[in-house]
Amino acid sequence: DWTAHNVVEALVEQVKETVGDKRVLCALSGGVDSSVAAALVQRAVGDQLTCVFVDHGLLRSGEAEQVEKEFVAATGVDLVVVDAREQFLGALAGVSDPEEKRKIIGREFIRVFEQAARDVVGSAERDGHPVEFLVQGTLYPDVVESGGGTGTANIKSHHNVGGLPDDLQFTLIEPLRLLFKDEVRQVGLELGVPEGIVWRQPFPGPGLGIRIVGEVTAERLEILRAADQIARHELSAAGLDREIWQCPVVLLADVRSVGVQGDGRTYGHPVVLRPVSSEDAMTADWTRVPYEVLAKISTRITNEVREVNRVVLDVTSKPPGTIEWE
Ligand code: XMP
Repeated sequence: DWTAHNVVEALVEQVKETVGDKRVLCALSGGVDSSVAAALVQRAVGDQLTCVFVDHGLLRSGEAEQVEKEFVAATGVDLVVVDAREQFLGALAGVSDPEEKRKIIGREFIRVFEQAARDVVGSAERDGHPVEFLVQGTLYPDVVESGGGTGTANIKSHHNVGGLPDDLQFTLIEPLRLLFKDEVRQVGLELGVPEGIVWRQPFPGPGLGIRIVGEVTAERLEILRAADQIARHELSAAGLDREIWQCPVVLLADVRSVGVQGDGRTYGHPVVLRPVSSEDAMTADWTRVPYEVLAKISTRITNEVREVNRVVLDVTSKPPGTIEWE
């Protein structure tokens, strides 16, 4: 019968058998899927696994530390952290178009990961243990979506890794490919992955880069991180985490409005709260967050984040609005 314990045991055996004495790479994003996949492979083959975490500077408050400290302490994963914050900011300078931002963030990610992978591959080869595998946190719905839903238990596929050059190709292992999200969470808890990661809401790959309407700058990221942290804290404190699928907080960086804060007139930015309820992100409804909770978030953000003088609520369902603003 299905228990997280049994699933972990079976998958650990499969990973051991597949990997043998080869070495394995994994790109950690801080999200649930890659974290659980990495924890599982770590349980199976220990320090034959090296994880790479690209810090692109677009995560929310505390999330990089959650990966670098909590996840490592909980799982014992061998982690290479690449601080690429300056590189991403430089590449994003002057860019406001959402799709352009996505393209740049994706491209820089591959560049940084490629370099880190080459370093790991090179040192492993010198030790006589070639890196053959790359772990990905693909789930069953992703497999079905891409037309590969044959239901086989094989965790290994031979597809080339998109974006990486021909001389740096790995065999993919996708140990979660038969699991649904809620099962992945159970498996993560069984493996001791920190709860903050296991229960994390969906967060887009391009991160806060697509939650700043306008150019992404270091200062704007700071402002958005501060506002987002307050909103997340208050929504959690009100017990709304399970009711809300995700709640993007969006900085309208190119909009200014007049306000009075403290001693006088201000000319600051609005932030948008976008709490949505959803089953799968394909459709969504705006969550009826209680007025007192909204009031608390609004008061705290405008008191504590100097540059923000207005908090607005997005009451659009999807469709017609998407969940993210960009
Ligand atoms: P939308 O905004 O299209 O979002 O309603 C649906 C879900 O997808 C997430 N999202 C992304 N995830 N890269 C990602 O990895 C992206 O570029 C991206 N854009 C949106 C969004 O957070 C929501 O969960």
